[in-house]
Amino acid sequence: MARPLIIDCDPGVDDAIALLLAFTAPQQLDLLGITTVAGNVPLALTATNALKLCELADQTVPVYAGCPRPLLQPLQTAVEVHGATGLQGATLPDPQQRLQPQHGVDFLIEQLLSAPVPMTLAMLGPLTNLAVALIKAPQIVSKIAELVIMGGAVTHGNITPAAEFNVYVDPHAAQVVFTAGIPITLITLDTTHQVLTTPERLAAIRHINRPAAQAAADLLTYYGTPDIERYGMAGAPLHDPCVIAYLLQPDLFTTRPAQVAIETQGQHTLGRTVVDWWHSGPPNVSITDSVDAAGLYDLLTTQLSYL
Ligand code: RIB
Ligand code: CA
Repeated sequence: MARPLIIDCDPGVDDAIALLLAFTAPQQLDLLGITTVAGNVPLALTATNALKLCELADQTVPVYAGCPRPLLQPLQTAVEVHGATGLQGATLPDPQQRLQPQHGVDFLIEQLLSAPVPMTLAMLGPLTNLAVALIKAPQIVSKIAELVIMGGAVTHGNITPAAEFNVYVDPHAAQVVFTAGIPITLITLDTTHQVLTTPERLAAIRHINRPAAQAAADLLTYYGTPDIERYGMAGAPLHDPCVIAYLLQPDLFTTRPAQVAIETQGQHTLGRTVVDWWHSGPPNVSITDSVDAAGLYDLLTTQLSYL
């Protein structure tokens, strides 16, 4: 029985790879909809990019635009370069499908309240849409089986030394989500930085003679450059696809329970995920601890050959 799933995202290259991976496994993931949020690039672009990725993979998944800005913070996108599309490096087809007229937050609420069984949400961007849905319709908590979130950091941040981008963009939304009492599996930078797109792994994807895999290779080639230069790493960390890989093959990861609080005040620490392994309070999160990176790329490469 395929797992009913909604993906909330801000495409963004790594979101794009995550969506493509989700598209490859309809027997395991029943993707009911994609909601987009402002993050890597403004909302209009994240929505258009999601439509383009559905077109690339010949998918008819409905796409909904959600919130154009965080709850309280002014929007800070990851890509400040003027004219950036968020999917640089690849030429993607113009979408035939149009955006759904319903707001992404209302789609989340409607889907969750009408779901016959509690659903899984894959959260790949700032948590604004889900936070607004929880504020507007708190009864959805009982209809969410699990959140699998890419976000936060146990050690070092990426947008500031203290904070990871998705949480930093909307720390107040993250606080609403992390205190809602929903089961959360959190995949932090400490895990995703173990999953590097090395030249060998990129070559394996490039070797797949399929349009979606070629576009993925083009996107990943461009995506890696800033991180490789900044961190001096052997490749770019593959953040969001870890969420879908976890849903498809959870044994690729190990996890630990922790109590996680979100810093919403600090001058230097705004958006910090404060991780307490020793449970000063009851654990509210299961944090991934290690990942079989080679196994994850084997999964990704194999699955992309199906598109
Ligand atoms: O910090 C990495 C996260 O921020 C990823 O989800 C990336 O797409 C950006 O949204
Ligand atoms: Ca993202």
